[in-house]
Amino acid sequence: MRPLAVVTGASRGIGKGIALALASAGYDLAGLATRPDPDKQSEGLYAVKAEAEKRGASFQVLAGNIAALDEHQAWIDTLLERFGRIDLLVNNAGVAPLERKELLDMSPESFDRVLGINLRGPFFFSQRVAVTMKKLLEEGREIEPKIIFISSISSRIVSTNRAEYCVSKAGLSMAAQCFAMGLASSGIPVFDLQPGLIGTDMTSAVKEKYDALIAEGLVPAQRWGTPEDVGRAVVALAQGGFDYSTGAVIEIGGGMGVQRL
Ligand code: NAI
Repeated sequence: MRPLAVVTGASRGIGKGIALALASAGYDLAGLATRPDPDKQSEGLYAVKAEAEKRGASFQVLAGNIAALDEHQAWIDTLLERFGRIDLLVNNAGVAPLERKELLDMSPESFDRVLGINLRGPFFFSQRVAVTMKKLLEEGREIEPKIIFISSISSRIVSTNRAEYCVSKAGLSMAAQCFAMGLASSGIPVFDLQPGLIGTDMTSAVKEKYDALIAEGLVPAQRWGTPEDVGRAVVALAQGGFDYSTGAVIEIGGGMGVQRL
């Protein structure tokens, strides 16, 4: 029986790259997105579903908002009913501020929106999924439980024109550490992946700015990262070789976060 991975924000970008890499690696998938596009089944999450199925995976579409905590248990119940297991949670869904504003102009509304989606939602979804994983383990089910947080290099590197995003990601990285410690004795490894500059819809608005910075040497690898770069890293962790490294923080940034002189 294939293990089941839940990927939040799987309809495009990094989440899509992760979902398809996991499908190729032998996982069944549940993908969450705010707009899976039920009227246009050839786009969004349904397109990812079709591609994953070509790779042999069963795929459950979950439509919802990660920030709406009261929706979480219904998603988990749907998955337990269909698959009877949850092996891997990848907390990938996230948003940038609607508008980049300098620190002293940023509004409480933008702060609450970004923190709600990027931190509060994944924190409490992870809590519920971890409770479920522990219960399955206690029942003697042979699952391969792991939780991966997709935070960001912005957990550590400051951008003053999107402080709420940086604060949300720093909080998410601490959440990963807390879950790693809280779940270590239960045999549930937890990891924090910190992507650098990855070419997706989220970064398309600032592509030219970062193209220039990459040309000037910001990224030692001299290129944008891709969703496939992140997908490969997730598969490497999912396959179990790093289980004793719970709490590890892994940058996927082409060397961008390494301090240089
Ligand atoms: P994207 O904007 O292309 O895709 C975001 C995905 O999250 C979509 O599937 C969307 O439906 C889903 N989503 C957004 N809000 C949601 C909500 N409230 N509830 C449920 N799903 C929701 O973004 P991208 O670039 O693929 O980023 C994915 C994650 O990686 C985000 O957490 C982002 O902060 C993080 N990241 C991205 C980097 C980049 O350079 N693109 C760099 C570092 C981290």
